[in-house]
Order: sequence, then structure tokens, then C-alpha cells
Amino acid sequence: MTRSRILGVGRYLPERRVTNFDLADMFDTSDEWIQRRTGIVERRFADEGVYCSDLALEASRDALKNAGMKAEDLDFIILATLSPDHHFPGTGCYLQAKMGLTGIGAMDVRNQCTGFLYSLAVADAFIRIGMYKRILVVGAEVHSSALNFTDAGRDVAVLFGDGAGAVIVGPAEDSSRCILSTHLHADGSNADILKLEIWDISKKPYLTHQTIEEGRIWPKMQGRAVFQTAVERIPEVVQEALQANDIQIEDIKLFLPHQANLRINQFAAARLGVPEDKFYSNIQRYGNTTAGSIPIALSEVLEQGLVKEGDLIMMVAFGSGFTWGASLIRW
Ligand code: ACO
Repeated sequence: MTRSRILGVGRYLPERRVTNFDLADMFDTSDEWIQRRTGIVERRFADEGVYCSDLALEASRDALKNAGMKAEDLDFIILATLSPDHHFPGTGCYLQAKMGLTGIGAMDVRNQCTGFLYSLAVADAFIRIGMYKRILVVGAEVHSSALNFTDAGRDVAVLFGDGAGAVIVGPAEDSSRCILSTHLHADGSNADILKLEIWDISKKPYLTHQTIEEGRIWPKMQGRAVFQTAVERIPEVVQEALQANDIQIEDIKLFLPHQANLRINQFAAARLGVPEDKFYSNIQRYGNTTAGSIPIALSEVLEQGLVKEGDLIMMVAFGSGFTWGASLIRW
């Protein structure tokens, strides 16, 4: 069976930097609190009028350039986000049009912080069965429009930033350098622990002035529960991926964890007995960019020469749903 590999990687971060000090001007928080609990120093926010599909477009262009390809070479699009342009149609369709493409399939994946890994697994499967040859996989988020910048929303508002990352997936010529396996999980019994309700489709109508007055348009999170479950599930799924491929943890050159909280990744690395510098981290500069975080990190580590041909890397994520997963790749 044909195996798949990543042919090009790109990223896009909006220019506007928002520091912890900027947030402390808006509500009751401090640089010291945010850095100590999360590691975040600053994040990027998109300007008014910018859509998720606009960030996805820039990251996709960067990935195409990196792969030496044109948009017309693509035969499928998968876009992961929790901050779509609109409720429907899918943001992948908006992205397709902005890329000047028509006709090729465009699919949205809604799996929050694990969205990129779910999307990568779908692309890998499509390549393996020979259905497509050049698949664009994008993770993009505009969080900054849906954060509550008041004291009531401060626990969530300090965590998130905007950004996008993209990869092009295609057949591997050398079957030893490929996506080795992806392991995906979910536990919907915890769906309400971290969610953005906005509307309730069981209500008629599904959205009222009361919804806004009650603050149900903002994300709600039980931060401790997310933290405690993340530090269990991340090591578990890393071990699952290692065992499935009969690989030792020492053989992994670099872990690319989702960037939800620096402390979560430090805990997970310690539980696995992995030195902290093997868990890549850029949350200090970008905050949590959800579906964008792993491809953004991949783009950076390749640019910095931290990953070379033949290296083993592991991507791992945990997030709302709960959803979690890991993907092992020989580069
Ligand atoms: N600034 C200052 N104080 C704050 C802030 C803030 N931004 N937010 C909360 N506090 C206060 C609380 O009100 C509380 O005060 P109190 O003791 O007077 O009641 C105190 O700080 C401690 O609050 P906790 O919620 O207990 O703080 P905790 O140590 O759990 O840290 C945090 C909070 C950073 C959110 C942590 O729980 C966490 O990181 N959890 C994981 C979150 C996460 O990763 N979410 C994203 C998942 S990704 C996805 O799928 C979208």
C-alpha cells in the first residue's frame, strides 16, 4: 500500500502582538500570573474583518511554496478549526474559493486542539488508498473575536491566540520515510468541560437576546479538569504510538505537542521521562492556536533545522471534546 508523507509545510501568524500587559489593561490579570500558570508571554490577534479562511489562505500559500507546488496541483482540502468563518458552509469551501480553485473537494474537521491530527489521519488514509495525490491540510483559528475580555472571561481569554499552519500530504516515494501511524481518541462524556455553546439547536429559535445576556456566547472551561486529564492522556497516547511501531522513546528526535499550556507539556514530558527540550514549545510567543499549533510548530522546527531527513518526530495533542491523539512520522 502507498504510504504518505508531508511534502511541504507553512504557517501564518497575524502581525499584531498582544502582550500579557495589554490584557492586564483590559481586565484583572497580570503578566506574572499568566506566565507562571501558562508560560504565555504574548499572542497574535487578527484585525477586524479577517476571517479564519484568510489566515488559512496565507499558511496554505506558504506550504505550497515550501513544497514547490501551485494551488492547481492540489486535489483535496481538509481544514480543521473551531473558529469557522460562519456556521455553514464549511470554511474549507471559503478557502478553496480564495485559492482560486473550483471543483476539488473541501472538508471541515471540528476536533478542536486535536483537529490537525484528525485531519492528517484522514489525508493519510486517502493517500494510502490512492484516492488523492496532493492534499492540503490546514489548521487555522481566529480566537480573538470569541474571547470575553472582562474579569468573567479572564481564565480563558489569556490562553488563546490567532494563527494558522498548513501541510501538503502526498505519496511517499521511500516507504520508510512516511507517516508511520496516527492514533485518535475522544471522550464525549467530558464535552461540556470546555465548550463554546453560542446557540442551542434544541431551542426554537436557537439563539435569543437572553443567550447573549447570559454570556453563553463565550467559551467556558473547567481549567483544572482539562489540565489533569491532559497530563494523563498525552503520555498514554505517546506510549500507544511507540508500542504500535515498536519504537523506543529515546529514538524520538523531537516531540511537537499541541501548545495549550507550557505546564501541561512540562508535566507530560516529565511523566514520560523525556528531557523538556525534546518537547518543542512556542506557546510563549503565540498562546494556544488550537488546530494551528502543531503545523505552526512543524514549520518552525524545519526552518530552524531541528528536524532532518530520517528523524523520528511525534505530534501529540489533547483538547476539548475531550479529544486527543498522536502521530508518529519518520521525516
Ligand atoms: N488572571 C489572574 N487570575 C486568574 C486568571 C487570570 N487570567 N484566571 C483565573 N484566575 C484566578 C481564579 O479566579 C482563581 O482565583 P481564586 O483563587 O481567588 O478563586 C485563581 O486564579 C486560580 O484559578 P484556577 O482556575 O484554580 O487556576 P489554575 O491553577 O487551574 O490555572 C489555568 C488556570 C491556567 C486555566 C489552568 O487550569 C489550565 O491551564 N488548564 C488547562 C487549560 C487548557 O489547556 N485549555 C485549553 C485546552 S485546548 C482546547 O481544546 C481548546
